[in-house]
Amino acid sequence: MSSIKVVGGEQLKGELKIQGSKNAALPIIAATVLNKGITTLKNCPKILDVLHMIKILEELGCKTKWQGNTLFVDSSVITSPSVSEESVRKMRSSILYLGALLGRCHEVTIAYPGGCSIGKRPIDYHLNAMTKMNVTEEFLNDGEIIHCYTNEIVGNDIFLEFPSVGATQNVILAAALSQGTTRIFNAAREPEVTELCSYLQEAGARISGKGTAYIQVEGVKELHDVTFTLMPDRIVAGTYMTAIAATYGDAVLTDFPVGKLDAVIRILRKAGCSIETYENNVRVYCQKKLQPIEFIKTQPYPGFPTDMQSQMMTVLCLADGKSTIAEEIFESRYQNVEELRKMGAEISLESSENKAIITGVGRLHGTVVKSHDLRGGAALVVAGLAAEGTTIVQGATSIERGYEDICRDLSALGANIRYCSENAS
Ligand code: UD1
Repeated sequence: MSSIKVVGGEQLKGELKIQGSKNAALPIIAATVLNKGITTLKNCPKILDVLHMIKILEELGCKTKWQGNTLFVDSSVITSPSVSEESVRKMRSSILYLGALLGRCHEVTIAYPGGCSIGKRPIDYHLNAMTKMNVTEEFLNDGEIIHCYTNEIVGNDIFLEFPSVGATQNVILAAALSQGTTRIFNAAREPEVTELCSYLQEAGARISGKGTAYIQVEGVKELHDVTFTLMPDRIVAGTYMTAIAATYGDAVLTDFPVGKLDAVIRILRKAGCSIETYENNVRVYCQKKLQPIEFIKTQPYPGFPTDMQSQMMTVLCLADGKSTIAEEIFESRYQNVEELRKMGAEISLESSENKAIITGVGRLHGTVVKSHDLRGGAALVVAGLAAEGTTIVQGATSIERGYEDICRDLSALGANIRYCSENAS
């Protein structure tokens, strides 16, 4: 496992293109199995999670090929509708093959995903919805394996208790080739759900209400070949915005998902950053001392994204005063707190309310820290950029799950950063 070595103190400057979206790519890669033919995905990020989804496609019998950032998937033949325990353990998003394989094969065997470092993450909404759509579920191996089958997926009304991104996507995937109409109430409105709907519509699915809390899917008999360009990654874009803010830099991010990061832009502006948005670009510059934010709460879209919580915490560690963050989506997403404390941050946790109170220290200092999860790791890299001295972020593989090459990107903006071996210091 590799580490990332950052020598802090460089103000980020220049221009950088944002990679394609991870959270759009993953459900769309699962969705390719619904088409008995060829799908071409442009602007697909070459990140570990995508490579993992592709490995599952190949285990299912599909053929895949890369050309630059274009991914070709040939799903003409599925040899076995089963996703191994190892695959699900490696990446929870493998569960998106539940709806997709039910749609294509009317059957799927998939391991039951456990919790992960950011929380318990159950899949009860996914399974309850499938049951309502005429799917039978059997639990094998003491509940570790789920076997689902149906003679026909039948559309139904699905009320989600919480607007879960994955559950909304699984229902859409299962409903695309069903009999009848599925209506999803309290659907997730995340742009990546909209992107899945757009992809499926271009492949011939009948979907209305994308981007709203009420999505309707009218089942069709089959989908057809399609070429689709994935949207830029809003969380990668947001991460690099926090990196520019934390280093008091001045840089332009191109291919930026304008209009999809408003909650983050609003908070960064409140913290004293200047942000100019253009059609596909954004300029971020920060000349004044960073200001604290009285209260930030993570929420489903269009609220402040949980996937930006750790990076924003790093910025607030550098602000002139006290800020509070409340994590409302995942219960264990404060593992960075201990790591940031090693760098001199002052953060206290009110675990009963899942709140972090951050007292800005003005400057962090470099040391050895550990990445516990994808966004937490990226947030530690941002802390390293702003810190005095050298920071080693161990466990960089977790960062590679979602960032094509964080060292390449931040070096392009003038950062002193590179991958190194795990024991480097
Ligand atoms: C997706 C994103 C992830 C993001 C999250 C919230 C992908 C690949 N991942 O994850 O980056 O942080 O949305 O924006 O797109 N829940 C249940 N039962 C269920 C499903 C979810 O209780 O059946 C709970 C979860 O534990 C969590 C909340 O609902 O507390 C939200 O989870 P969900 O929106 O489903 O997140 P994911 O789709 O896993």
